[in-house]
Amino acid sequence: MISVNNTAVSYTDEGPIGGRVVIFIHGFPLNKSMWDRQIGALKDEYRVIAYDIRGHGDSEAGNAHFSMDLFVNDLLGFMHSLNIKKAVLCGLSMGGYIALNAAINFPEQFDGLILCDTSCIADSPKSRNKRIEAIESIKLNGLETFADESINNLFAAGSVAAEGTEIADVKEMIMNTSSQTVYNSMHALAIRKETCSRLSEIKIPVLILVGDEDKITPPIAAMVMHQNIRGSAFSIIENAGHLSNMENPYEFNYLLKKFLATVY
Ligand code: MLT
Repeated sequence: MISVNNTAVSYTDEGPIGGRVVIFIHGFPLNKSMWDRQIGALKDEYRVIAYDIRGHGDSEAGNAHFSMDLFVNDLLGFMHSLNIKKAVLCGLSMGGYIALNAAINFPEQFDGLILCDTSCIADSPKSRNKRIEAIESIKLNGLETFADESINNLFAAGSVAAEGTEIADVKEMIMNTSSQTVYNSMHALAIRKETCSRLSEIKIPVLILVGDEDKITPPIAAMVMHQNIRGSAFSIIENAGHLSNMENPYEFNYLLKKFLATVY
């Protein structure tokens, strides 16, 4: 645990001290354990850090209103507390929104960016309404129903059918998130600003990854970012939905390592 902006942040920090740093940022409403397979694959070579976004996992929620700006501020404060001057950021979905905002607004702090199953567009009115409906539904039916419904959206059909441990793990992550954090994060996601118009400002190396069956931030959304970030690398991960790093860790880790070898 480390205190950032007066809030206790839970994190893991593995690999060589003084090594090149990779920071992983999880999606909503999950936690840092979604990166376990990537941390295992990289820790011999890099200092790999994963933290829980406020309210998620074991991190405190604090009193501030959730927003992408607050989450970016937390990330910068976290890096400062650990005395990390520069890092490669790897963010999935909501973690990707945070990573994109951080890299655009504070480019001097990042050596590279890995954007997984994420997007630069803001919520449409329809998506915002869906989030309002989801909040109402959780209030009525509880978090478990929401978790069960989320599984089908998050995973590729093949992953759901295979019933691997990652399905149970993700359900547990969702169930361990407080309803209040789910509501507050949904609000932050709903009001987030688009970043597509600023992608051309990104000058650091970027890798964009997306599951071929990602229903939440589909390959077309990843393609838009690829087309607008000069020199970015882009790959579609097969047999994967929105959680491509968990559903196809072999292909994901291969691409991750290949990219990091070009950055560091
Ligand atoms: C996530 O995985 O972080 C969320 O699905 C992002 C979103 O709903 O926009």
